[in-house]
Amino acid sequence: MYEKIKETARFLKDIGIDKPEFGIVLGTGLGGIVKMIEIEKSIPYHDIPNFPVSTVTGHSGTLIYGELSGKKVVAMQGRFHYYEGWEMSEVTFPIRVMHMLGITKLMVSNACGGVNPDFKVGDIMIINDHINMMPEHPLRGENDERFGPRFVDMHEPYNRKMISLMKATAFDLKIEVKEGIYLALQGPTFETPAEYRMVKLMGADAVGMSTVPEVIVAKHMGMDCFGLSVITDLGIEGKIEEVSHEAVQVAAKSSEMTISRLVEAFIAKL
Ligand code: HPA
Repeated sequence: MYEKIKETARFLKDIGIDKPEFGIVLGTGLGGIVKMIEIEKSIPYHDIPNFPVSTVTGHSGTLIYGELSGKKVVAMQGRFHYYEGWEMSEVTFPIRVMHMLGITKLMVSNACGGVNPDFKVGDIMIINDHINMMPEHPLRGENDERFGPRFVDMHEPYNRKMISLMKATAFDLKIEVKEGIYLALQGPTFETPAEYRMVKLMGADAVGMSTVPEVIVAKHMGMDCFGLSVITDLGIEGKIEEVSHEAVQVAAKSSEMTISRLVEAFIAKL
């Protein structure tokens, strides 16, 4: 795996991806942040050696390199989900590559269901912690010390300084943001009412099908992580309605401009 990652990073360096500082994983319907990037390179995943190629509609599958608010960034337009059938090593492969390119800060975004009764559809939530309920751990198996230690410290999964900076940014821009715990389930089914209740009882504020494997692998390599969720539907007693992938995309899209403004100002201050 190490050699494959090295080969992919070498390829990207050779085509001109030079000293990026910040990695971004764009979740469902949040691809709009790309419009804020002065793009220097846009590489379809299928042209990148060893890269998995994503299949879900709404995830286009392009690696973007460019400048966002004066910082060199690499953004994944389209991520790999465990429910698609990828191995955890494939889901997290691009994060390993980002690290090998020299990236030390990662921002992840996603669409998710809110179970906190204070939440409404369209809310933006800063992820301040997570609960990993995926059926497989991305660090299971032999540990490669070149990436990081066997037992990974998780006392600060989401970087506190970046959380404070985003809160200050939101305050300055007069944008309301929520904060909470993200719980990851494998999907691809959305939750039953009983499962939403379980998620809430477990102490989470939101539930989704991604993000946590990427953050765990980033923490393995000592990266600082920051995450934003858009609440696209509610798993709250009395407010549970039919959900579909399309409805999730529409709801995420409606918050896209707001998120883009937040991220642009946030990165400028980093
Ligand atoms: N549950 C899980 N994943 C999701 C949801 C949800 O309610 N909404 C968007 N992604």
